[in-house]
Amino acid sequence: MELNKYNIELIKENFQQLFGTEPLLVRSPGRINIIGEHTDYNEGFVLPAAIDKAAYVAVAKREDNNIHLYARSFREEYTCSLTALSRRKTWTDYVLGVVDQLLIKGHNITGFNLVLDGDIIIGAGLSSSAAVECSVIYALNTLFELGLPKMEMVKLAQAAEHSFAGVKCGIMDQFASMFGKKGHAIQLDCRSLEYNYIPLHMEGISVLLLNSNVSHSLASSEYNTRREQCEQGVGWVKEFVPETVSLRDVTLNMLDRYVLPKDALIYKRCKYVVEENIRLQAACDDLKKGDIHSLGEKMFLTHNGLSKEYEVSCKEIDWLVNYVSNNSAVLGARMMGGGFGGCSINLVKEKAIDNLVEDISKKYKEATGLTLDAYVVQIENGTGKMLN
Ligand code: GLA
Repeated sequence: MELNKYNIELIKENFQQLFGTEPLLVRSPGRINIIGEHTDYNEGFVLPAAIDKAAYVAVAKREDNNIHLYARSFREEYTCSLTALSRRKTWTDYVLGVVDQLLIKGHNITGFNLVLDGDIIIGAGLSSSAAVECSVIYALNTLFELGLPKMEMVKLAQAAEHSFAGVKCGIMDQFASMFGKKGHAIQLDCRSLEYNYIPLHMEGISVLLLNSNVSHSLASSEYNTRREQCEQGVGWVKEFVPETVSLRDVTLNMLDRYVLPKDALIYKRCKYVVEENIRLQAACDDLKKGDIHSLGEKMFLTHNGLSKEYEVSCKEIDWLVNYVSNNSAVLGARMMGGGFGGCSINLVKEKAIDNLVEDISKKYKEATGLTLDAYVVQIENGTGKMLN
Protein backbone atom coordinates (compact mmCIF):
# COMPACT_ATOMS: atom_id res chain seq x y z
CA MET A 1 0.00 0.00 0.00
CA GLU A 2 1.57 3.33 -1.06
CA LEU A 3 1.50 6.28 1.27
CA ASN A 4 0.89 9.81 0.09
CA LYS A 5 3.57 12.06 1.44
CA TYR A 6 2.43 15.48 2.57
CA ASN A 7 3.86 18.26 0.40
CA ILE A 8 5.08 21.00 2.72
CA GLU A 9 5.34 23.45 -0.23
CA LEU A 10 1.55 23.67 -0.32
CA ILE A 11 1.15 25.24 3.08
CA LYS A 12 4.21 27.42 2.63
CA GLU A 13 2.96 28.87 -0.66
CA ASN A 14 -0.49 29.32 0.78
CA PHE A 15 0.93 31.30 3.69
CA GLN A 16 3.02 33.49 1.38
CA GLN A 17 0.00 34.25 -0.82
CA LEU A 18 -2.18 35.15 2.15
CA PHE A 19 0.27 37.11 4.28
CA GLY A 20 3.23 37.95 2.01
CA THR A 21 5.95 36.85 4.46
CA GLU A 22 8.09 33.77 5.11
CA PRO A 23 6.59 31.46 7.74
CA LEU A 24 8.07 29.18 10.35
CA LEU A 25 6.91 25.62 9.52
CA VAL A 26 6.10 23.04 12.19
CA ARG A 27 4.94 19.43 11.92
CA SER A 28 3.27 17.46 14.72
CA PRO A 29 2.14 13.87 14.15
CA GLY A 30 -0.92 11.82 15.01
CA ARG A 31 -0.44 8.68 17.09
CA ILE A 32 -1.26 5.04 17.41
CA ASN A 33 -1.39 3.22 20.73
CA ILE A 34 -0.29 -0.39 20.77
CA ILE A 35 -1.74 -1.24 24.15
CA GLY A 36 -2.76 0.60 27.35
CA GLU A 37 -6.12 2.21 26.56
CA HIS A 38 -8.03 4.44 28.98
CA THR A 39 -5.20 4.02 31.45
CA ASP A 40 -3.52 7.44 31.10
CA TYR A 41 -6.03 9.44 33.17
CA ASN A 42 -5.87 6.69 35.80
CA GLU A 43 -2.13 7.31 36.28
CA GLY A 44 -1.33 4.04 34.54
CA PHE A 45 0.86 3.13 31.57
CA VAL A 46 0.50 3.56 27.81
CA LEU A 47 2.49 2.42 24.76
CA PRO A 48 1.88 4.91 21.93
CA ALA A 49 3.96 5.87 18.88
CA ALA A 50 3.89 8.87 16.54
CA ILE A 51 2.90 8.19 12.93
CA ASP A 52 3.50 9.48 9.42
CA LYS A 53 0.27 11.48 9.34
CA ALA A 54 0.52 14.91 10.88
CA ALA A 55 -0.77 18.42 11.44
CA TYR A 56 1.26 21.20 9.85
CA VAL A 57 1.31 24.89 10.70
CA ALA A 58 2.92 27.85 8.99
CA VAL A 59 3.19 30.81 11.31
CA ALA A 60 4.70 34.32 11.59
CA LYS A 61 4.38 37.27 13.96
CA ARG A 62 2.15 40.26 13.28
CA GLU A 63 2.78 43.85 14.32
CA ASP A 64 -0.57 44.10 16.14
CA ASN A 65 -2.47 41.96 18.66
CA ASN A 66 -4.65 40.17 16.13
CA ILE A 67 -4.71 36.50 15.27
CA HIS A 68 -5.38 35.55 11.64
CA LEU A 69 -6.04 31.87 11.07
CA TYR A 70 -6.66 29.88 7.91
CA ALA A 71 -7.41 26.14 7.73
CA ARG A 72 -6.49 24.81 4.27
CA SER A 73 -8.52 21.62 4.59
CA PHE A 74 -11.71 23.51 5.40
CA ARG A 75 -10.91 26.60 3.30
CA GLU A 76 -12.00 28.62 6.24
CA GLU A 77 -10.50 31.70 7.81
CA TYR A 78 -10.99 33.21 11.21
CA THR A 79 -9.77 36.42 12.75
CA CYS A 80 -9.87 37.60 16.34
CA SER A 81 -7.96 39.65 18.84
CA LEU A 82 -5.62 38.20 21.46
CA THR A 83 -7.84 39.81 24.07
CA ALA A 84 -11.09 38.21 22.84
CA LEU A 85 -10.65 34.47 22.42
CA SER A 86 -13.80 32.44 22.23
CA ARG A 87 -14.77 28.76 22.00
CA ARG A 88 -16.56 27.94 18.74
CA LYS A 89 -16.82 24.13 18.77
CA THR A 90 -14.72 23.90 15.65
CA TRP A 91 -11.05 23.62 14.56
CA THR A 92 -10.18 27.08 15.90
CA ASP A 93 -10.65 25.76 19.47
CA TYR A 94 -7.49 23.65 19.16
CA VAL A 95 -5.48 26.71 18.14
CA LEU A 96 -7.04 29.33 20.41
CA GLY A 97 -7.19 26.93 23.38
CA VAL A 98 -3.39 26.89 23.28
CA VAL A 99 -3.18 30.68 23.01
CA ASP A 100 -5.59 30.97 25.94
CA GLN A 101 -3.38 28.71 28.09
CA LEU A 102 -0.28 30.73 27.21
CA LEU A 103 -2.04 33.92 28.29
CA ILE A 104 -3.36 32.34 31.51
CA LYS A 105 0.19 31.30 32.38
CA GLY A 106 1.40 34.87 31.78
CA HIS A 107 3.49 34.32 28.66
CA ASN A 108 4.31 37.29 26.55
CA ILE A 109 2.93 36.92 23.06
CA THR A 110 1.56 39.27 20.42
CA GLY A 111 -0.58 38.70 17.33
CA PHE A 112 0.32 36.18 14.63
CA ASN A 113 -0.75 34.76 11.28
CA LEU A 114 -1.19 31.01 11.01
CA VAL A 115 -2.13 28.53 8.29
CA LEU A 116 -3.13 25.05 9.42
CA ASP A 117 -3.13 21.91 7.31
CA GLY A 118 -2.67 18.20 7.78
CA ASP A 119 -3.32 14.69 6.60
CA ILE A 120 -4.55 12.97 9.77
CA ILE A 121 -8.02 11.59 9.24
CA ILE A 122 -10.31 13.52 11.58
CA GLY A 123 -12.49 11.47 13.92
CA ALA A 124 -10.54 8.27 13.30
CA GLY A 125 -9.02 8.09 16.78
CA LEU A 126 -5.56 9.18 15.60
CA SER A 127 -5.53 12.33 17.76
CA SER A 128 -5.69 15.00 15.13
CA SER A 129 -6.69 17.47 17.85
CA ALA A 130 -3.61 16.76 19.98
CA ALA A 131 -1.46 17.07 16.86
CA VAL A 132 -2.89 20.52 16.12
CA GLU A 133 -2.44 21.65 19.72
CA CYS A 134 1.16 20.43 19.79
CA SER A 135 2.01 22.01 16.45
CA VAL A 136 0.61 25.35 17.64
CA ILE A 137 2.34 25.35 21.03
CA TYR A 138 5.64 24.32 19.45
CA ALA A 139 5.32 27.03 16.78
CA LEU A 140 4.42 29.78 19.25
CA ASN A 141 7.13 28.66 21.69
CA THR A 142 9.68 29.01 18.89
CA LEU A 143 8.26 32.21 17.42
CA PHE A 144 8.04 34.11 20.71
CA GLU A 145 11.11 32.45 22.25
CA LEU A 146 9.19 31.34 25.33
CA GLY A 147 11.74 28.69 26.28
CA LEU A 148 9.18 26.06 27.31
CA PRO A 149 10.59 22.54 27.61
CA LYS A 150 8.75 19.78 25.70
CA MET A 151 6.99 18.35 28.76
CA GLU A 152 5.61 21.80 29.64
CA MET A 153 4.31 22.15 26.10
CA VAL A 154 2.62 18.75 26.39
CA LYS A 155 0.88 19.74 29.62
CA LEU A 156 -0.18 23.05 28.15
CA ALA A 157 -1.63 21.36 25.05
CA GLN A 158 -3.54 18.93 27.28
CA ALA A 159 -4.90 21.83 29.34
CA ALA A 160 -6.07 23.46 26.10
CA GLU A 161 -8.02 20.31 25.22
CA HIS A 162 -9.64 20.33 28.68
CA SER A 163 -10.63 23.96 28.65
CA PHE A 164 -11.44 24.74 25.01
CA ALA A 165 -12.49 21.36 23.57
CA GLY A 166 -14.11 20.24 26.84
CA VAL A 167 -12.62 16.73 26.83
CA LYS A 168 -10.93 15.76 30.09
CA CYS A 169 -8.33 13.74 28.21
CA GLY A 170 -5.25 12.11 29.68
CA ILE A 171 -1.74 13.02 28.61
CA MET A 172 -1.07 10.24 26.10
CA ASP A 173 -1.99 11.92 22.82
CA GLN A 174 -0.14 15.19 23.33
CA PHE A 175 2.82 13.33 24.80
CA ALA A 176 3.07 10.90 21.88
CA SER A 177 2.77 13.68 19.32
CA MET A 178 5.53 15.73 20.98
CA PHE A 179 7.93 12.96 22.04
CA GLY A 180 7.51 10.41 19.21
CA LYS A 181 10.66 8.75 17.88
CA LYS A 182 11.10 7.12 14.47
CA GLY A 183 10.82 3.33 14.68
CA HIS A 184 10.00 3.32 18.41
CA ALA A 185 7.02 2.98 20.71
CA ILE A 186 7.08 4.95 23.97
CA GLN A 187 6.35 3.27 27.27
CA LEU A 188 5.05 6.12 29.39
CA ASP A 189 4.28 6.04 33.07
CA CYS A 190 1.45 8.56 33.28
CA ARG A 191 2.02 9.05 37.00
CA SER A 192 5.73 9.90 37.13
CA LEU A 193 5.90 10.90 33.43
CA GLU A 194 9.02 8.77 33.12
CA TYR A 195 9.27 7.13 29.73
CA ASN A 196 11.46 4.90 27.65
CA TYR A 197 11.62 4.21 23.96
CA ILE A 198 11.18 0.60 22.86
CA PRO A 199 12.28 -0.26 19.30
CA LEU A 200 9.33 -1.52 17.28
CA HIS A 201 11.22 -4.43 15.76
CA MET A 202 8.54 -6.53 14.19
CA GLU A 203 10.20 -8.57 11.47
CA GLY A 204 7.77 -9.00 8.57
CA ILE A 205 4.84 -7.51 10.51
CA SER A 206 3.20 -4.14 9.91
CA VAL A 207 0.76 -1.95 11.79
CA LEU A 208 -2.45 -1.82 9.77
CA LEU A 209 -5.22 0.59 10.73
CA LEU A 210 -8.74 -0.20 9.63
CA ASN A 211 -10.95 2.85 9.75
CA SER A 212 -14.55 1.88 10.47
CA ASN A 213 -15.71 5.30 9.22
CA VAL A 214 -17.99 5.46 12.23
CA SER A 215 -17.36 8.87 13.73
CA HIS A 216 -17.31 9.05 17.47
CA SER A 217 -20.01 11.60 18.28
CA LEU A 218 -20.66 10.02 21.70
CA ALA A 219 -17.01 10.01 22.46
CA SER A 220 -16.48 13.18 24.48
CA SER A 221 -19.47 12.84 26.81
CA GLU A 222 -18.95 9.10 27.36
CA TYR A 223 -15.22 9.69 27.81
CA ASN A 224 -15.83 12.13 30.64
CA THR A 225 -18.34 9.71 32.18
CA ARG A 226 -15.76 6.86 32.17
CA ARG A 227 -13.34 9.14 33.91
CA GLU A 228 -15.90 9.94 36.61
CA GLN A 229 -16.73 6.24 37.05
CA CYS A 230 -13.06 5.45 37.66
CA GLU A 231 -12.86 8.31 40.17
CA GLN A 232 -15.92 6.93 41.94
CA GLY A 233 -14.24 3.53 42.25
CA VAL A 234 -11.12 5.17 43.68
CA GLY A 235 -13.28 7.08 46.15
CA TRP A 236 -14.80 3.84 47.49
CA VAL A 237 -11.42 2.17 47.88
CA LYS A 238 -10.10 5.30 49.60
CA GLU A 239 -12.71 4.97 52.35
CA PHE A 240 -10.84 1.83 53.47
CA VAL A 241 -7.34 2.54 52.14
CA PRO A 242 -6.84 6.28 52.63
CA GLU A 243 -3.53 6.54 50.76
CA THR A 244 -5.21 5.52 47.46
CA VAL A 245 -4.83 8.28 44.86
CA SER A 246 -5.82 6.63 41.58
CA LEU A 247 -6.58 3.21 40.05
CA ARG A 248 -2.82 2.82 39.79
CA ASP A 249 -2.83 2.12 43.53
CA VAL A 250 -5.73 -0.34 43.37
CA THR A 251 -5.53 -4.13 43.10
CA LEU A 252 -8.19 -6.58 41.89
CA ASN A 253 -8.52 -7.76 45.46
CA MET A 254 -9.36 -4.24 46.65
CA LEU A 255 -11.96 -3.92 43.89
CA ASP A 256 -13.57 -7.19 44.97
CA ARG A 257 -13.73 -6.05 48.57
CA TYR A 258 -14.59 -2.35 48.34
CA VAL A 259 -16.16 -1.66 44.94
CA LEU A 260 -18.08 -4.77 43.90
CA PRO A 261 -20.44 -4.64 46.92
CA LYS A 262 -21.33 -1.03 46.02
CA ASP A 263 -21.88 -1.11 42.27
CA ALA A 264 -21.37 -3.78 39.59
CA LEU A 265 -20.98 -1.31 36.72
CA ILE A 266 -18.29 0.80 38.42
CA TYR A 267 -16.57 -2.45 39.37
CA LYS A 268 -16.48 -3.58 35.73
CA ARG A 269 -14.99 -0.28 34.59
CA CYS A 270 -12.29 -0.29 37.27
CA LYS A 271 -11.48 -3.97 36.77
CA TYR A 272 -10.74 -3.35 33.09
CA VAL A 273 -8.31 -0.52 33.94
CA VAL A 274 -6.47 -2.45 36.66
CA GLU A 275 -6.10 -5.48 34.37
CA GLU A 276 -5.01 -3.34 31.42
CA ASN A 277 -2.14 -1.88 33.44
CA ILE A 278 -0.91 -5.37 34.33
CA ARG A 279 -1.33 -6.46 30.70
CA LEU A 280 0.64 -3.50 29.40
CA GLN A 281 3.68 -4.25 31.55
CA ALA A 282 3.73 -7.81 30.25
CA ALA A 283 3.16 -6.60 26.68
CA CYS A 284 6.22 -4.33 26.90
CA ASP A 285 8.30 -7.35 27.91
CA ASP A 286 6.89 -9.24 24.92
CA LEU A 287 7.90 -6.41 22.61
CA LYS A 288 11.40 -6.19 24.07
CA LYS A 289 11.81 -9.95 23.56
CA GLY A 290 10.40 -9.75 20.03
CA ASP A 291 7.51 -12.03 21.01
CA ILE A 292 4.89 -10.39 18.82
CA HIS A 293 2.56 -13.40 19.11
CA SER A 294 2.16 -12.89 22.85
CA LEU A 295 1.84 -9.14 22.41
CA GLY A 296 -0.90 -9.71 19.82
CA GLU A 297 -2.84 -12.04 22.09
CA LYS A 298 -2.86 -9.35 24.76
CA MET A 299 -4.27 -6.86 22.25
CA PHE A 300 -7.25 -9.17 21.68
CA LEU A 301 -7.75 -9.40 25.45
CA THR A 302 -7.63 -5.61 25.68
CA HIS A 303 -10.29 -5.37 23.02
CA ASN A 304 -12.51 -7.75 24.89
CA GLY A 305 -12.17 -5.64 28.04
CA LEU A 306 -12.82 -2.38 26.20
CA SER A 307 -15.85 -3.85 24.49
CA LYS A 308 -17.47 -5.84 27.31
CA GLU A 309 -16.30 -4.17 30.52
CA TYR A 310 -15.34 -0.62 29.71
CA GLU A 311 -18.00 -0.51 26.97
CA VAL A 312 -16.36 2.05 24.71
CA SER A 313 -16.35 0.03 21.46
CA CYS A 314 -19.17 -0.10 18.90
CA LYS A 315 -20.64 -2.88 16.81
CA GLU A 316 -18.67 -1.98 13.67
CA ILE A 317 -15.29 -2.07 15.45
CA ASP A 318 -16.29 -5.28 17.24
CA TRP A 319 -17.09 -6.73 13.84
CA LEU A 320 -13.64 -5.75 12.49
CA VAL A 321 -11.78 -7.26 15.44
CA ASN A 322 -13.89 -10.40 15.45
CA TYR A 323 -13.41 -10.90 11.70
CA VAL A 324 -9.61 -11.06 11.97
CA SER A 325 -9.49 -12.97 15.25
CA ASN A 326 -9.09 -16.39 13.61
CA ASN A 327 -6.83 -15.23 10.80
CA SER A 328 -3.32 -16.61 11.39
CA ALA A 329 -1.78 -13.65 9.53
CA VAL A 330 -3.21 -11.24 12.12
CA LEU A 331 -1.26 -11.44 15.37
CA GLY A 332 -3.26 -8.90 17.31
CA ALA A 333 -6.17 -6.50 16.86
CA ARG A 334 -8.23 -4.16 18.99
CA MET A 335 -10.10 -0.89 18.99
CA MET A 336 -7.82 2.08 19.49
CA GLY A 337 -8.16 5.46 21.19
CA GLY A 338 -11.13 6.92 23.02
CA GLY A 339 -13.59 4.60 21.28
CA PHE A 340 -17.15 4.66 19.83
CA GLY A 341 -15.77 4.40 16.30
CA GLY A 342 -12.53 5.29 14.58
CA CYS A 343 -9.92 2.67 13.79
CA SER A 344 -8.93 -0.78 14.85
CA ILE A 345 -5.19 -1.37 15.12
CA ASN A 346 -3.94 -4.67 13.69
CA LEU A 347 -0.54 -6.34 13.68
CA VAL A 348 -0.47 -8.16 10.36
CA LYS A 349 2.07 -10.24 8.43
CA GLU A 350 3.17 -7.97 5.59
CA LYS A 351 2.64 -10.56 2.87
CA ALA A 352 -0.99 -11.01 3.85
CA ILE A 353 -1.98 -7.34 3.98
CA ASP A 354 -3.22 -6.79 0.41
CA ASN A 355 -5.43 -9.90 0.45
CA LEU A 356 -6.77 -9.15 3.90
CA VAL A 357 -7.65 -5.57 3.01
CA GLU A 358 -9.44 -6.63 -0.16
CA ASP A 359 -11.41 -9.35 1.59
CA ILE A 360 -12.33 -7.49 4.78
CA SER A 361 -13.34 -4.33 2.89
CA LYS A 362 -15.85 -6.32 0.85
CA LYS A 363 -17.26 -8.20 3.83
CA TYR A 364 -17.41 -5.07 5.99
CA LYS A 365 -19.44 -3.29 3.34
CA GLU A 366 -21.86 -6.23 3.15
CA ALA A 367 -22.19 -6.45 6.91
CA THR A 368 -22.52 -2.74 7.75
CA GLY A 369 -23.12 -0.83 4.53
CA LEU A 370 -20.05 1.26 5.32
CA THR A 371 -16.81 1.76 3.42
CA LEU A 372 -13.66 0.56 5.10
CA ASP A 373 -10.39 2.49 4.74
CA ALA A 374 -7.06 0.84 5.40
CA TYR A 375 -3.65 2.37 6.14
CA VAL A 376 -0.28 0.85 6.89
CA VAL A 377 1.41 3.30 9.25
CA GLN A 378 5.07 4.12 9.62
CA ILE A 379 6.43 5.22 12.99
CA GLU A 380 7.93 8.70 12.81
CA ASN A 381 9.49 11.44 14.93
CA GLY A 382 7.43 13.75 17.13
CA THR A 383 6.81 17.49 16.86
CA GLY A 384 9.49 19.55 15.18
CA LYS A 385 10.43 22.40 12.88
CA MET A 386 10.40 21.74 9.15
CA LEU A 387 13.22 23.22 7.12
CA ASN A 388 12.02 25.96 4.75
C1 GLA B 1 -8.25 9.64 23.97
C2 GLA B 1 -7.61 10.56 25.00
C3 GLA B 1 -6.37 9.93 25.63
C4 GLA B 1 -6.64 8.51 26.12
C5 GLA B 1 -7.38 7.70 25.07
C6 GLA B 1 -7.83 6.36 25.58
O1 GLA B 1 -7.40 9.48 22.87
O2 GLA B 1 -7.27 11.80 24.43
O3 GLA B 1 -5.87 10.74 26.67
O4 GLA B 1 -7.35 8.54 27.33
O5 GLA B 1 -8.51 8.37 24.55
O6 GLA B 1 -6.74 5.59 25.94
